[in-house]
Amino acid sequence: MQLWLLGLVVSLAPVSAEDFPSLMTANASIAVVLDRQYLGDKYQTVLDELKDYIKELARVELKHGGVIVHYYSWTAISLKKGFLAVFSIASCEDTWDLFSRTEEEELLLFALTEVDCPRLPYHSAITATFADPGEELPQLLLDLRTSNAFQWKSAIILHDDTLSRDMVSRVVQSLTLQIDEESASPVSVTVFKMKHEINEYLRRKEMHRVLSKLPVQYIGENFIAIVTSDVMTAMAETARDLLMSHTMAQWLYVISDTSARHGNLSSLINDLYEGENVAYIYNNTEDHPDCKNGIMCYCQELMDAFISALDAAIQDEFDVAAQVSDEEWESIRPNKIQRRDMLLKHMQQHIAVKSRCGNCSRWRALAADTWGATYRGLADAPDLASSANMTASGVIDRIDLLNVGFWRPIDAVKFEDVLFPHIHHGFRGKELPIITFHNPPWTILQRNESGAIVKYSGLIFDIVNQLAITKNFTIKVILASILKNNLNNDTIADTMQGMDAKLTMIAISKGQGALAAASFTVLSDPMPGINYTMPVSIQSYAFMIARPRELSRALLFLLPFTSDTWVCLGFAVILMGPTLYIIHRLSPYYEAMEITRQGGLATIHNCLWYIYGALLQQGGMYLPRADSGRLVVGTWWLVVLVVVTTYSGNLVAFLTFPKQEVPVTTVAELLENRATYTWSITKGSYMEMELKNSDEPKYIALLKGAELVTSSFSMGPTMASGSALLQRVRSKRHVIIDWKLRLSYLMRADRLESDNCDFALSAEEFFHEKVAMIVPAGSPYLPVINKELDRMHKAGLIMRWLDAYLPKKDRCWKTSSMMQEVNNHTVNLSDMQGSFFVLFMGFFSASTVLLLEFLYHRRKRRGEQIVIKPYVE
Ligand SMILES: *[C@@H]1O[C@H](CO)[C@@H](O)[C@H](O)[C@H]1NC(C)=O
Ligand SMILES: *[C@@H]1O[C@H](CO)[C@@H](O)[C@H](O)[C@H]1NC(C)=O
Ligand SMILES: *[C@@H]1O[C@H](CO)[C@@H](O)[C@H](O)[C@H]1NC(C)=O
Ligand SMILES: *[C@@H]1O[C@H](CO)[C@@H](O)[C@H](O)[C@H]1NC(C)=O
Ligand SMILES: *[C@@H]1O[C@H](CO)[C@@H](O)[C@H](O)[C@H]1NC(C)=O
Ligand SMILES: *[C@@H]1O[C@H](CO)[C@@H](O)[C@H](O)[C@H]1NC(C)=O
Ligand SMILES: *[C@@H]1O[C@H](CO)[C@@H](O)[C@H](O)[C@H]1NC(C)=O
Ligand SMILES: *[C@@H]1O[C@H](CO)[C@@H](O)[C@H](O)[C@H]1NC(C)=O
Ligand SMILES: *[C@@H]1O[C@H](CO)[C@@H](O)[C@H](O)[C@H]1NC(C)=O
Ligand SMILES: *[C@@H]1O[C@H](CO)[C@@H](O)[C@H](O)[C@H]1NC(C)=O
Repeated sequence: MQLWLLGLVVSLAPVSAEDFPSLMTANASIAVVLDRQYLGDKYQTVLDELKDYIKELARVELKHGGVIVHYYSWTAISLKKGFLAVFSIASCEDTWDLFSRTEEEELLLFALTEVDCPRLPYHSAITATFADPGEELPQLLLDLRTSNAFQWKSAIILHDDTLSRDMVSRVVQSLTLQIDEESASPVSVTVFKMKHEINEYLRRKEMHRVLSKLPVQYIGENFIAIVTSDVMTAMAETARDLLMSHTMAQWLYVISDTSARHGNLSSLINDLYEGENVAYIYNNTEDHPDCKNGIMCYCQELMDAFISALDAAIQDEFDVAAQVSDEEWESIRPNKIQRRDMLLKHMQQHIAVKSRCGNCSRWRALAADTWGATYRGLADAPDLASSANMTASGVIDRIDLLNVGFWRPIDAVKFEDVLFPHIHHGFRGKELPIITFHNPPWTILQRNESGAIVKYSGLIFDIVNQLAITKNFTIKVILASILKNNLNNDTIADTMQGMDAKLTMIAISKGQGALAAASFTVLSDPMPGINYTMPVSIQSYAFMIARPRELSRALLFLLPFTSDTWVCLGFAVILMGPTLYIIHRLSPYYEAMEITRQGGLATIHNCLWYIYGALLQQGGMYLPRADSGRLVVGTWWLVVLVVVTTYSGNLVAFLTFPKQEVPVTTVAELLENRATYTWSITKGSYMEMELKNSDEPKYIALLKGAELVTSSFSMGPTMASGSALLQRVRSKRHVIIDWKLRLSYLMRADRLESDNCDFALSAEEFFHEKVAMIVPAGSPYLPVINKELDRMHKAGLIMRWLDAYLPKKDRCWKTSSMMQEVNNHTVNLSDMQGSFFVLFMGFFSASTVLLLEFLYHRRKRRGEQIVIKPYVE
């Protein structure tokens, strides 16, 4: 153990011990740089006073060891001399130059520099700027910018005559200056000046003139108003009138004419409106004879802080070293960076608590807490009726100002909160009332056995939950059904969208909720008092029809030829018999060759049967011997060959690929088949309204032929799938026209129940219905919600969420299932029934003919008997 530790110490020691001695063994040394050029005449006095001060300070305050001070009169010094820290008084440029070199050497720099200088990074140096009272405004804005209080790309500065021309250019400079620091990018600035009018009326007129002409779409909506307190009130009102103070705009009022004694800013802020982003920075400077200021004050204070930090550091090292062995101490003592950070922290703390220089110059920052403020009382409101005062006017009755922080020259802005809380934190965790009702798949309220709602889900809740995360609010769900008690019966007409939707709309229009988490059809003439958000989804209409069935196969054997082919064939057979007979009869060949015409072709009747037999490839016993007759028969055989081959080939094809009904997939096809099909539309739906407004002949015809049904299907797992309407579709050639989404739910429910695919959806989709949420009319949060919705759409989130609620594509979606059945189709009775039928027909007609033959025979016999009877006179 000892050996191992020793090895560790040996390996570590050479690195740190020589160039970086412990504070216990060697006295710390610091460099004090007083730039002679920057200080000018004051150089000598500052130097002398500082020397005396440090000597005295070290003697009194430094209890352990001492400090060696090296004085320099320019900043270009060598830092390789083992300094612990550097103190400098120099111009801004030289200070930053020096900082880049102390950073390399990992030294602590605490600097006093001129005003309008960007401060050195807070985490590795200390900067105090020295400004005369009343000149601090540019530095203030610069500090705000470098501390990222606002992350603006552009700003509009509005000021009046109270700001001198010189000051304006310094303010602009402080905002546009290029700074090395990566975080604080320059702001592009537009400056507008207003004439300072004493008369209140003229002042407002002037303000209106300036504000109304601002091209905000080009120069942004971030305003810095550097004005007096009375102008501020007028400006806030004018901006509101011109709709320039909204959720997307940011207003920073810089008010210089207040002071610590007279001017509590809170009392000057009369109204705030819901959804504004307003922050105030106001002069809280004290005009006091005791106020300390001046360059020596800052010098002394910084040195105080340093000596105090040094003392603490030495003390610390002694304490730790006393508890461990020397070797261990060597391994655990702080390295250069750690020591620098320790000193820095201590100094910053010391300054924050003890600093007195320029302590009179002080500016406070306030931010208005406006978002969701009108809904603040909601949590304690006993019932909803009493909170119904949250109207769209948006004025907030209890003004809430957040203390954001304060600024002083020595250590810049101390933030307790962000300057624009709603830009960074949205609603700051406030509770917003959100009205909803059960309407799957948009909103699904799951209840447990005792009827209490345990879960809110559905597409809209996915969206609202995402909104709540990004905009930092919590959701207080209000059920539309609860609202019913607050409304008179007469306001509720029985409407298409159902009771809950109507109740929700009324509640929203009264401002009882910030948002309705439910789906509403976007109508062109909405109910007054509501505004739609951006569409959440677009639903198209389609129709549901019974899946095309296979045609009956009873007459399968007839299918290979069309009816005209059959007719021609029949005529051919009928004509060929006489033709053969005539040619056979007329041929002189038999007389010439003296052959008697044998066999069956001697009568027309036989010829017919011969031709028919030949068609079925049954040869006759006797063929004509004359070439003319043979040619007729031969040609017929050729025809027969073609006909029979074609027929049997086609028959196989028809056996293998059953023929389907012609499917109806478009509105036009549906209308063509209006004799066979009936169709229905939900009464009062968007579809009906669109049809009524449409002037396309096809839609007019569609509406004219439609039945209007009141029952609408609710979507979800428990859908009434056995409804009469569905039964009609299944068996009575009925068609339902509705949302494609709803129909596919129906189809799935039916499939789950009966496990067959009886229905199909049309290929054509028509009438796209937009579905959106609603907010109270004029809600300031509409743009905020729309922006988030847009983002969700673009990220594909909404699409993904909706897909999760849609019926999965099952086998009914595919047609390939039918093909599979086809592949190994074996011929069954239904295919063959036609042949058996023909056989039966043949048997039947044979019996009939037999009967006729008997009758004929008998009649003939009776006739013969009559004829044979001898006639005897
Ligand atoms: C440190 O400074 C003190 C007083 O200034 C002095 O007495 C002491 O000798 C110095 N120590 C070293 C190691 O230089
Ligand atoms: C801040 O207030 C003090 C005292 O009222 C005043 O002297 C000083 O000029 C004000 N600062 C600015 C920038 O106007
Ligand atoms: C300002 O006035 C309000 C009441 O008008 C009071 O609550 C608040 O404490 C005052 N603030 C200061 C800093 O005096
Ligand atoms: C500023 O410092 C002086 C002297 O220490 C003190 O009297 C005065 O009260 C301080 N003022 C403020 C506002 O802290
Ligand atoms: C609502 O407004 C009425 C009159 O405008 C007022 O009397 C009532 O106190 C208000 N209710 C609440 C809860 O603010
Ligand atoms: C939400 O608001 C609270 C209260 O202001 C804040 O502390 C928190 O950081 C915010 N959360 C987000 C994610 O902005
Ligand atoms: C239903 O939920 C409510 C509220 O969460 C709970 O009080 C009740 O016990 C639950 N009932 C059953 C049967 O789980
Ligand atoms: C509203 O109508 C229902 C039934 O239609 C009735 O029971 C109830 O009393 C009515 N409420 C009011 C406030 O008229
Ligand atoms: C909100 O609704 C009102 C009427 O109810 C309408 O005048 C206004 O244009 C709507 N606003 C938006 C952004 O659609
Ligand atoms: C059709 O053939 C496939 C394999 O080729 C077989 O899995 C399936 O069971 C057959 N279907 C019928 C109805 O015989």
